[in-house]
Amino acid sequence: MTSEYPVAFSLNGRARECNTPHRMLVADLLRTRLGLTGTHIGCEHGVCGACTIVVDGEPVRSCLMLGPQLDGTEVTTVEGLAHRSSGALTELQQAFRRHHALQCGFCTAGVLMSFSAFLDRERHPTQEQIREVLSGHLCRCTGYQGIVAAVMDAAERMRTGGGS
Ligand code: FES
Ligand code: FES
Repeated sequence: MTSEYPVAFSLNGRARECNTPHRMLVADLLRTRLGLTGTHIGCEHGVCGACTIVVDGEPVRSCLMLGPQLDGTEVTTVEGLAHRSSGALTELQQAFRRHHALQCGFCTAGVLMSFSAFLDRERHPTQEQIREVLSGHLCRCTGYQGIVAAVMDAAERMRTGGGS
């Protein structure tokens, strides 16, 4: 018998309540119970970064977090990254497109979430800082230079207000 635990939290700016089995991973909860399949699951043990979401402003591996731990938190997934009022892509998302920083896109949601949280606190990133954040993500497609260029570009445009 699986016991369930009620959780209430903010998901992409909206109040959500649901039940979760005690041992269900947040990655599975998001995908199977809440229908948010933008969060991808790769390794399932905290190595690849594909499942990264932002919880209370910090990037978190959702494959290392259990459903009950969501209670009372503020969660953003890749579905909530675009500007909520207009649906416009963020500077970071636009820069990924400009710099061809993705190919198959499997790793991209997690990468975007890590750098979204990073750019919230660091508007003058160095390439070294960006590569350090990237070291927590595995991409099978792109190589990483396009991602570094995209984050540098996004940071500059965020500083200068060049765009949305
Ligand atoms: S699926 Fe979570 S880090 Fe790989
Ligand atoms: S874009 Fe394909 S795994 Fe990164």
